[in-house]
Amino acid sequence: MDKKSGCSFILKGDICYSASPTQFDARKNAYVVCVDGISQGVFDELPEKFHGLPLVDYSDMLIVPGLNDIHVHAPQYTFRGIAMDLELLDWLNTYTFPEEGKYEALEYASAAYDIFVDDLMHSPTTRAVIFATLHVPATKLLMDKLEATGLKTYVGKVNMDRNSPEFLCEDSAETSLVATRKWIAEVKGTYKNTLPILTPRFTPTCSDELMKGLGDLVQEYGLPVQSHLSENLSEIDWVKGLCPWSTCYGQTYEHFGLLGGSTKTVMAHCVYSTDEEIALMKQAGTYIAHCPQSNMFLSSGIAPIKRYLDEGLNVGLGTDVAGGANLSMFRAISDAVGVSKLRWRCVDQSFAPLTIQEAFYLATLGGGSFFGKVGSFAEGYEFDALVLDDSGIRSVRELSVPQRVERYAYLANEGGMIARKYVSGIKVL
Ligand code: GUN
Ligand code: FE
Repeated sequence: MDKKSGCSFILKGDICYSASPTQFDARKNAYVVCVDGISQGVFDELPEKFHGLPLVDYSDMLIVPGLNDIHVHAPQYTFRGIAMDLELLDWLNTYTFPEEGKYEALEYASAAYDIFVDDLMHSPTTRAVIFATLHVPATKLLMDKLEATGLKTYVGKVNMDRNSPEFLCEDSAETSLVATRKWIAEVKGTYKNTLPILTPRFTPTCSDELMKGLGDLVQEYGLPVQSHLSENLSEIDWVKGLCPWSTCYGQTYEHFGLLGGSTKTVMAHCVYSTDEEIALMKQAGTYIAHCPQSNMFLSSGIAPIKRYLDEGLNVGLGTDVAGGANLSMFRAISDAVGVSKLRWRCVDQSFAPLTIQEAFYLATLGGGSFFGKVGSFAEGYEFDALVLDDSGIRSVRELSVPQRVERYAYLANEGGMIARKYVSGIKVL
């Protein structure tokens, strides 16, 4: 086969990927072929037609699809791992809003985003859906920095025009929408890897007028949407009071065309979604970003992810830094398994805990599909891959490939190393 570009090659190693929540394909000493950035599939014997392509030998290393963090707050990276003592609404007012206010100063934003972007680059994440702040200049700066990494991201300038401190509140729906239009005009089509996403923070901080205007922007520009939904019980009560016309929290987005349908929408959390809200999300094709670590540390609760999977909803994983402290999506995988067991034991035994395979699926194909054909090595998928050297996680035991992947999710920081990272066939690390 002709090599049409630099993005055509073969990797050899111990390969593992998900084809569905329950189909987990693991092969020792196998080949995965990338042609023009697209996976041609995984093979035990290399087919003749690929013999001319360059081969990189990662024998004894694990090769898995890149991980997709579909909910993370870049400006909150500065206070990850501290300020974990409050629940959501107090946490926002006490720690989060004052921190995000600092991003009005570009010098602060630049220094902070340099660290976030560098750490994201060296993390297992290949694609991410990211909240910035309401500030347009700082959001553009973040996008510039992310673009240079080769990672693929959606980045949102946040909208908030009510129930927020004066230093982090847009004057009116109109002001917020004008700033959003300006931002879209400045960034749309500017980048190859970095795309804008509309970002109403959550219903409590967005007036109906602002929501309506953002729904209009979805139609006008065909942009995707990200927000938060049914994370915390006090939040849900507050939304009932703010939107007495609504039948459930999810409807406060759906009513304005912000729950998905014509474009993709990702809603973080959905810990307490009602049957009605679940039905709305199913109808709209909403993505749920499950953020287990954040749900633990903000004492939010445990989302019924097994139910969502069984009902065929779109689900992926997020770190939700700084609600979650850890940027590693491997940690998100093992946390998803752990909290699902607590849910099964302490809350509701009608849904089984998540298996490691299901959690791996969520981090790869589950969230990856938000970006298109992403998250698998099946033929036709964009070639995002991690080459993992797990030799530093020492053991005298002979482990199977699935066991090594499982162990990596729990023990990545006990000697695991990311040897290479590819996004769309391009080596980024
Ligand atoms: N809801 C509204 N804003 C936020 C935020 O920054 N983090 C989390 N976890 N939930 C939110
Ligand atoms: Fe969040």
